[in-house]
Amino acid sequence: MKKVIVGGNWKMNKTVPEAQALARQLCDRLSDVNFADIFICPPFVDIYSLSIILREKESKIILGAQNMHYEAKGAFTGEISADMIKSAGGKIVVLGHSERRHIFNENDEYINRKVRAALDAGLLPLLCIGELLEEREAGKTEEVIRTQLKGSLDGIKIEDPSKILIAYEPVWAIGTGVTATPEQAQDAQKFVRKILAEMFDENIANEIRILYGGSVKPANAASLIVQPDVDGLFVGGASLDAESFEKIVRDAIK
Ligand code: 13P
Repeated sequence: MKKVIVGGNWKMNKTVPEAQALARQLCDRLSDVNFADIFICPPFVDIYSLSIILREKESKIILGAQNMHYEAKGAFTGEISADMIKSAGGKIVVLGHSERRHIFNENDEYINRKVRAALDAGLLPLLCIGELLEEREAGKTEEVIRTQLKGSLDGIKIEDPSKILIAYEPVWAIGTGVTATPEQAQDAQKFVRKILAEMFDENIANEIRILYGGSVKPANAASLIVQPDVDGLFVGGASLDAESFEKIVRDAIK
């Protein structure tokens, strides 16, 4: 039985004091939650100090980073390596987020290198995939999902389903207030699992946790999570407020 997982992607929001205050509130509000794994992905500059706060609060909240570089070290001004994230207290790394793909032109081959580096370093990659509105309207949703999964995971063997997370995040639903309907999320995520079964095997694919992301709010979390192939939720805007993130987590019951 897979444990539900709910994460917050803080994107480029919160100063250091603001991030620390939000982390403290989340620790206090969510300390009793055992039914879901909870993670937060603050900006890089917050990971270390938040790891100290989470430890002080004896919180089970997991820390993640929003990106990383695939090289271990060297002359890559402005970049952060997997080992740096780990040493700061990060356990998860978001890779291939649509904002990285579309604003920073990251392609599947580049993301593939990052997934490999994260796995090699013992970080848990959260691979994001999802189609644009024009791709959905052109009936290309499945083709995009297949291409992104096969490209981003090319040559990678997953023998332990707990070593990777996938997030289906339709680009048209991110930050727009337009959520995929529970049926749209289910259809796409069932297809994600089908491709994972082709790439690995059915048992592994069944156990890999697939999150839905895109305008998740307290009002829609419950209807999304009950879908059979929605194993978790990845929350952007609504994770920036402790009360709304808490509501989403508490609704994330199968
Ligand atoms: P929103 O919840 O703000 O739509 O963002 C979703 C997202 O991008 C999570 O990674």
